Amino acid sequence: MKEKVFLTRNLHDFALKDLKKNYDIEIHSGKIPIPQSKLKLKIKEVQGLICFPYDKIDKEIIQLGKNLKIISTYSVGYDHIDTKYAKKNKIRIGYTPEVLTDATADMAFALLLDLLRRITEGDRIIRNGKWKQIYGAYDFVGVDLQGKTLGIIGLGRIGKTLAKRAKAFDMKIVYHNRKQVSKTEEKRLGVKFVTFNELVAQSDILSIHVPHTKETNKMFDMKIFKKMKKTSFLINTSRGKVVNEKDLEIALKQKIIAGAGLDVFETEPVNKRHQFTKLENIVLAPHIGSSTKETRIKMAEIATKNLILGMKGKKPIYSVGY
Ligand code: DGY
Repeated sequence: MKEKVFLTRNLHDFALKDLKKNYDIEIHSGKIPIPQSKLKLKIKEVQGLICFPYDKIDKEIIQLGKNLKIISTYSVGYDHIDTKYAKKNKIRIGYTPEVLTDATADMAFALLLDLLRRITEGDRIIRNGKWKQIYGAYDFVGVDLQGKTLGIIGLGRIGKTLAKRAKAFDMKIVYHNRKQVSKTEEKRLGVKFVTFNELVAQSDILSIHVPHTKETNKMFDMKIFKKMKKTSFLINTSRGKVVNEKDLEIALKQKIIAGAGLDVFETEPVNKRHQFTKLENIVLAPHIGSSTKETRIKMAEIATKNLILGMKGKKPIYSVGY
C-alpha cells in the first residue's frame, strides 16, 4: 500500500505527477486556508504534509500526526509551524528559500519605487477622474531615489539582494543585522552597518527583512515610528506580525511617517473594510512577494523534493532543524 500525502492546496501539475508516482495523495479543495477541523482529521492519516504559510501547523496538529515524517512548506517562512515540537518528535521540516530571493527583493523594490513615485496613487487619480485637479507643477510630486538612504533590517539573502537593486539606483544603504557581515561583503554590497536606533533614525526608506519570531513580534510600533523621519517610508515584505498595524495606521494618518508599502499583514487576506484601504499614503499588495511564474515553479520543485526526501527518512534539500 502506498504511503499517504496530504496537500492543503493545489500545486502545479508536474509536482502532483511526481508525487502521485509514489504516494497516495489527497488535495484539499474548498475554503482557503483549510479549516483547522479538517486538517485535524486529515493529518491523522498521512505520512507527509505539503502546507502553505496560511496553515497553522501547531503542536496539536503535530501531535495528531502520529505517522507524520515530513512537513514540507511551500514558503521560505516557517513561523506557521511549531518547529521545536516537530523536531522533538523527529518530524522533518522542508522549506523553500533561495529560489524566491530575487522575486521577493524585486517586490520590496517595486513597493519602494511605487511609494516614492506615487504610481498606485496616480492610477487611482486617473480612475477617479481627477487628473485635471493635479495639473500644477507642485500638485503631484514624488521624491527621488538617488541619494536617499535605504535602511535594511535583516541582511539575509533577500536583504542583500535588495541592497544590490538599491545600489544600482545610487542610493545609500545602511543595515542592521544580528551579526555584522564581513567587511568584504559590506564593500561588495555597498552597505554600512549601523545600530538599530541609527537605522531607524537615518533611513528615508526602511525595509523589513526579519522573520516573525517571539523577539520580532510587533517590533515596529509607535515608539519606533516616532523615531523615524517624518518624510520616511516603511516597507514590509516579510511577515505582517512584525509590525503593529494599529500603530502604523495612526502613524500614517497623523503623518508621523510619510507612507508605507505592505505585501504582508497581521491577518490575511485583508478585508476591503480594513482601515489601510482608506489611506492614500499606503501601497497594498496581496502577499505576492514570491508570486512570479518562474519562482512558483521552482518553489513547487523544491517543496516536492523536500517532501520525497523526508518520506524516505532523509534530510530535505532545505531543512529546518535537522
Ligand atoms: C514565503 O515564502 O514565506 C513568502 O511569504 C511567500 O509565501
